[in-house]
Amino acid sequence: MRAPASNLSVNADRLWDTIFETARFGGTPRGGVRRLALSEEDRQVRDWFRAACEQAGLTVTVDTLGNMFAVRPGKDMSRLPFGIGSHLDTQPTGGKFDGVLGTLAALEVVRTLNDAGIETEAPLCIVNWTNEEGSRFAPAMMGSAGYVADLPVADILARTDAEGVSVGAALDAIGYRGPAEVGAQKLAGFLELHIEQGPILEAEGRPIGVVEHGQGIIWYDGRITGFESHAGSTPMRLRKDALAALSEIVLAIEALALAHAPNAVGTVGEAVIARPSRNVIPGEIAFSAEFRTPDAGILDALDAGLQAKVQEIAARRPVEIRLDTIWRKAPTHFDPAVAGAVAQAADKLGLKHRPMVSGAGHDSFHMATVMPAAMIFVPCKDGVSHNELEDATKADCAAGANVLLHAVLALAGDGGNGFGQ
Ligand code: GLV
Ligand code: MN
Ligand code: MN
Repeated sequence: MRAPASNLSVNADRLWDTIFETARFGGTPRGGVRRLALSEEDRQVRDWFRAACEQAGLTVTVDTLGNMFAVRPGKDMSRLPFGIGSHLDTQPTGGKFDGVLGTLAALEVVRTLNDAGIETEAPLCIVNWTNEEGSRFAPAMMGSAGYVADLPVADILARTDAEGVSVGAALDAIGYRGPAEVGAQKLAGFLELHIEQGPILEAEGRPIGVVEHGQGIIWYDGRITGFESHAGSTPMRLRKDALAALSEIVLAIEALALAHAPNAVGTVGEAVIARPSRNVIPGEIAFSAEFRTPDAGILDALDAGLQAKVQEIAARRPVEIRLDTIWRKAPTHFDPAVAGAVAQAADKLGLKHRPMVSGAGHDSFHMATVMPAAMIFVPCKDGVSHNELEDATKADCAAGANVLLHAVLALAGDGGNGFGQ
């Protein structure tokens, strides 16, 4: 017998168990996960995910970029599948929830529908996107960028990591350069559950964020070339100190972002001194930088401000500064109907919610450029993410998965069971 609509809910323990089960792949002693895109650990979790999907009766295909699609048939096979999912790669010292929650909650939604004997009107498709994090291969959200043709597939396959290994070679090494053409698996829409990765929901005591917008992002690679010389005998006025120049750039980025606070953030996340030594003046530094803001005009202003500042520093100091823009993503505006289905599902389940702007980047940003898409956020402890200490409660994860379940029933059609209202 089928449960009444209000009682249909995911199995919170089963969802929680899968999160901890997969955290073994690349698990760190501090309780985090190191599962870089297309690494051996990524292969392990992909194999696990493929087996779990197949066990749930789904048909799994893999495209040339390693994006995985697991389709559950619907009553009306003339309709396109509705997409749900996220990513299984992590930061170098990442947590157990970033990306993982959304992918495994999608699996849990399917398992719940299977248990209840519910066939949706449209098929469903769980997606595991390749390299969302962008920490091994830049830029982030790479598999979905290929899917929406934001970057050419050949260009993505040729991108290399710090060791010079290309995306194509890494896909071959783990056996995940699939036969399906990138973009061939069409979707009717996309909905992604994710931890907030910020402090707002927890502070307000709300379990659900309805994500309506996403920040625009600009990423830079920089290189400063000065001259290495003796730290004791080179007079200050004769130095060509690359690190001193970088310090000015770091502070300029902070000042530019602060000038637009709270609507902008700016970060230098990587800075590598070539041949470092305590008694050598740094002569060469490679660094990364980024800005994020939900406002397209502010993104332009931040970019122009940084370029002008870099020119000014390079004119004043005896160093060469190269700043390449390697990625630019306009702010995202999610689909009101998909976001509306999320808010309605939360209301139906009696879960407090609020509209949100995503601070982090997500594959759904790409989806929103070609199909109706939105996101669901749940709180994470102290707003901490991209950190091994990242944490979330079982209850909040289950609440998010239940909102995903009921929103999907509304969006894909509940097959006449009365669940999708
Ligand atoms: C990915 O997690 C990003 O927001 O950079
Ligand atoms: Mn993520
Ligand atoms: Mn992340």
